[in-house]
Amino acid sequence: MPVTRDDFPTLQLIDHPLVRHKLTLLRDRATSTKHFKELVDEIAMLMAYEATRDLPLEAVPVDTPLEPATGHLVRGKKLTLVPILRAGLGMVEGILRLIPSARVGHIGLYRDHNTLEPVDYYFKVPGDAAERDFLLLDPMLATGGSACAAVRSLQRAGAQRIRFLCLVAAPEGVRRFAAEHPDVPVLAAALDRELNANGYILPGLGDAGDRLFGTR
Ligand code: PRP
Ligand code: URA
Repeated sequence: MPVTRDDFPTLQLIDHPLVRHKLTLLRDRATSTKHFKELVDEIAMLMAYEATRDLPLEAVPVDTPLEPATGHLVRGKKLTLVPILRAGLGMVEGILRLIPSARVGHIGLYRDHNTLEPVDYYFKVPGDAAERDFLLLDPMLATGGSACAAVRSLQRAGAQRIRFLCLVAAPEGVRRFAAEHPDVPVLAAALDRELNANGYILPGLGDAGDRLFGTR
């Protein structure tokens, strides 16, 4: 079960032992690009398992080899994953293995190195946004600028039900995000200590996009 904290009311921490184990390997500067990618994929899948525990079910008849029975299937196919490019892409495949029917939108944003403000360059989500449940994906919630801008874009497109899934969050980012989007829950694997002067999370895991795609 996710852990909640009184001082961060919109935050839910998914601190399952396997998530903590894999996150520790992810933080390690010696972890290779290949292993980093596999770990992001696995952690995202484990987090999605927790994040989807409230999915609505419908009762359906099923014939077992022995007798007719009643089973339960997830109702509807309206879940949409939206990675924030680039690093959010690393979280998509693991979640799709659990929920293959989910659609995938994309939001292109990068953080200006000087101002730390997000610059957006791409947006595409399914047309029926108002009827969909969105899972916004990005490994890092640092200043919160990127996640806030992504939620604004989704809401402009009509999205009403959004959750934000990240691996590592900074207190500064969680507070800013909660102030701008108090109705959007944040699910994170870890709440770290603070941001440094360059807006990097401490202890964090470095630049998630560079480590994922080997561009450093
Ligand atoms: C990283 C990360 C988030 C953003 C978080 O992306 O993946 O999108 O920074 O920082 P913030 O909370 O302060 O906005 P980056 O801007 O490095 O873009 P990239 O993935 O394209 O390299
Ligand atoms: N973006 C990252 O990739 N890492 C950080 O620590 C902060 C922003």
